[in-house]
Amino acid sequence: MQAVLITGGSGLIGSVLSEKLLNRGYQVFHLSRSTSNSNSIKIYKWDYHSSFIDPEAIQKADFIIHLAGESLVQKRWTKKQKLSIIESRVKTTDLLFKEVKKQNKKLKAFIAASGVGYYGAINSDDIATEENQYHNDFLGNVCLQWEKSAEPFNELGIRTVALRTGMVLSSKGGALSKLLPTFKWGIGSAIGSGQQNVSWIHIDDLCEMYIKAIEDDKMQGPYNAVAPEQVSNFKFSKMLANSLKKSFWMPNIPGVILKLMLGEMSIMLLKGSRVSSEKIEETGFSFSFPTIKSALQNLIEK
Ligand SMILES: NC(=O)c1ccc[n+]([C@@H]2O[C@H](COP(=O)([O-])OP(=O)(O)OC[C@H]3O[C@@H](n4cnc5c(N)ncnc54)[C@H](OP(=O)(O)O)[C@@H]3O)[C@@H](O)[C@H]2O)c1
Repeated sequence: MQAVLITGGSGLIGSVLSEKLLNRGYQVFHLSRSTSNSNSIKIYKWDYHSSFIDPEAIQKADFIIHLAGESLVQKRWTKKQKLSIIESRVKTTDLLFKEVKKQNKKLKAFIAASGVGYYGAINSDDIATEENQYHNDFLGNVCLQWEKSAEPFNELGIRTVALRTGMVLSSKGGALSKLLPTFKWGIGSAIGSGQQNVSWIHIDDLCEMYIKAIEDDKMQGPYNAVAPEQVSNFKFSKMLANSLKKSFWMPNIPGVILKLMLGEMSIMLLKGSRVSSEKIEETGFSFSFPTIKSALQNLIEK
């Protein structure tokens, strides 16, 4: 039985991915800041602040999926919060690497989350591929450092994969659960100009992509984890209202209001470029929810 160690496995993506892996016969362990009990999953503790990691977690792992990281959207992006966003990703990768190296552990792959923020919070009609350079803004730098921190695994001969993930759509949390109440009341609207692109992915497709990254040993390097259909914020918002059978009449929320409410973080909502899913499709990966209509219908019916 193959063993998969997931960091941040208690989160939105990790909890669904864990369930899917268990159903496919994998052994699953989590690395967490707290060891609150879970029935089917053994949880090991770590703390990057004190460089502590339970060595047994690494001893037992065939694969590591690194999802842990301070939320990008929970708190305003103060200097301190920005540092925590970066360090919780980079220093945790360093800690994993040090322990893997110390144990001379022959991992089969190190697979990590990254974000489409790599391409920058910009509005552009160009379609970003994995060949693009990172964009020199806060999220671009976070993603760059996050991905670079995994390079030492590669140097040890361990296959590494980074999934540059778009907005994850799930009925259990994340962006959709924040949007649903206002749309259910029939007062949902687009944001800013509404022309900015929303790169999105259904949570089931994303989890299948992680499983493919485990099972397909030809996968290596960065892959965009976004659905093939490109949608503007206006189209996304209208489709959401339609899926709920609600009217869509409210004027767009002005960008200036979001800037006041959220500060610099508002760029995540107000900007967005187009991102290609071609490279992952070339591996033979097939999306269950390639269009926003199919994804929303599935999630809203759940
Ligand atoms: N959801 C999205 O739309 C989306 C889009 C693009 C990229 N991503 C990336 O994918 C990864 C997983 O996303 P998710 O939505 O599942 O995130 P999530 O629900 O916020 O879960 C992340 C997990 O990371 C751990 N964590 C949180 N803050 C931490 C800190 N300061 N230091 C160390 N660990 C910390 C927590 O696990 P413990 O409490 O068990 O330690 C938490 O459950 C994240 O890195 C995220 O940035 C997500």
